[in-house]
Amino acid sequence: MKIAVCPGSFDPVTNGHMDIIRRASELFDEVIVAVMPNAAKSGGLFAPPERVVLIDRAIAAEGLTNVTVDTYDGLLADYVRQRGACVIVKGLRAVSDFEYEFQMALTNRKLNADAETVFLTTTAENMYLSSSLVKQVAGYGGDIAGFVPACVKQDILDKIGKGGKS
Ligand code: PNS
Repeated sequence: MKIAVCPGSFDPVTNGHMDIIRRASELFDEVIVAVMPNAAKSGGLFAPPERVVLIDRAIAAEGLTNVTVDTYDGLLADYVRQRGACVIVKGLRAVSDFEYEFQMALTNRKLNADAETVFLTTTAENMYLSSSLVKQVAGYGGDIAGFVPACVKQDILDKIGKGGKS
């Protein structure tokens, strides 16, 4: 049984995340989406448990039966070991992602030699997409319909204070 962990801050989940999660679910027996803190990102729009609710809803909407969501406040390498996973799945958008992702993959390998990091390249339509971009567009009242799962859009608008403009 091959268990993969899909880690990220997911604040909030985007269509780009869902594309990677769906493709991972086709490659592995079980996928655990892990909402984790990113030391480089302070604050956050949604609290981790709220992010879990949104991801859970998006997973249900896509009918992904071998995917679960969890939160963990600690090292990814430790979490992967605890859950008996052997793979870390990350999405790669552009060359600009590579250096940072490569550094994380090597660090995680040093901390947990039993876990392999696998990169899935993003689809062309999600190449530019990020949670920060979604928050920025929503903050200025722009339409985020093409960026996030339909079932989470209103939560984002409500949280950002633009609920009335949907
Ligand atoms: O979606 P993000 O913000 O790019 O995800 C980054 C994340 C959360 C996967 C990364 O910051 C992480 O693994 N955090 C957990 C703490 C940890 O293990 N840090 C060392 C990673 S090399």
